[in-house]
Amino acid sequence: MIEFDLSNFRLDGDKQNEIDPREDPHINGPLFADSHFLSEELTLGIESAIQSREPVIVLKEAFETKKYPLTPTEFQTSDEKYWWSAANTANGLASKFGLKLCSYYSENDGELFVNLVTNPSNKKSQSSMRGHTDAVAHHMPQEIKFLNESPSPDYVMLIVLRNPNKVPTVVASLSDILENISISAMDQLALPQFIIHPQATFNIDRILHNVPILFLQPLSIRYSHGKVSYDLEGANIDKVKRAISELNEAIITSSSEVFGNPGDIILVNNRTAIHGRKTPGPDSAGDSRWLMRTYAIFEGQRTSHKEGVPYKLKP
Ligand SMILES: [Fe+2]
Repeated sequence: MIEFDLSNFRLDGDKQNEIDPREDPHINGPLFADSHFLSEELTLGIESAIQSREPVIVLKEAFETKKYPLTPTEFQTSDEKYWWSAANTANGLASKFGLKLCSYYSENDGELFVNLVTNPSNKKSQSSMRGHTDAVAHHMPQEIKFLNESPSPDYVMLIVLRNPNKVPTVVASLSDILENISISAMDQLALPQFIIHPQATFNIDRILHNVPILFLQPLSIRYSHGKVSYDLEGANIDKVKRAISELNEAIITSSSEVFGNPGDIILVNNRTAIHGRKTPGPDSAGDSRWLMRTYAIFEGQRTSHKEGVPYKLKP
């Protein structure tokens, strides 16, 4: 994990509250980036962290935290403006470093920002999450060349509005994971022999068959404990089972905790890190934990989207 302190370079929150972050984010992103001065040291540092595919980058105190309303219990963002400046800061910073915000048609109706909060009637929102990558059943950039599809996101961006109980995001870097598994396991994970079902938030009616979960060029992983499976009748079954169990073990031993504080933006690399979280617990509403999430993808990435809405990606 690498941290950068942006507290001396925050944008004027009020100015940023005038533009709806869901409208034309790819036009407004560069405008925010231009108006957002960062020291040369910070700029070069963040740039190099992104280029070197650092698994987690924490931009500390990147936006002004002001008095927010009570934490919502719904994943949909509110129509009120109070969260706009935080979201616009995330968009400007993404844009400054060659990333574009994105969402997927198949998830949350393509909403660009969602609240990660505890919902009293949704048990999952109260529990810990095992390590995974997001949009696991989307293709990787290496695979989409001949498809009318977009790859999974390069980054998961977490915008921290409140985290009173300091619930950590848990991250395991791929390089640490690979140090903790055997060569034979690595070979198995890189073979096209896995079946991947979409995660529950995605409304996609197809499954990936015969695909690898580890890619060597460039080194990348996609994974979900619950959604990756393999042919139980396959000839390789013992080796595959062993590889997955080594991987699961390595994710645990390689994990470290990232504590987001209000005002922080956490960039989790969705290729070189596996992420999850510790238990948020039953507290909801009030001043309970409140993150917002958006995705980002590198500008040069080949994507498929509907005309006129470049940030909503297919499928
Ligand atoms: Fe996730």
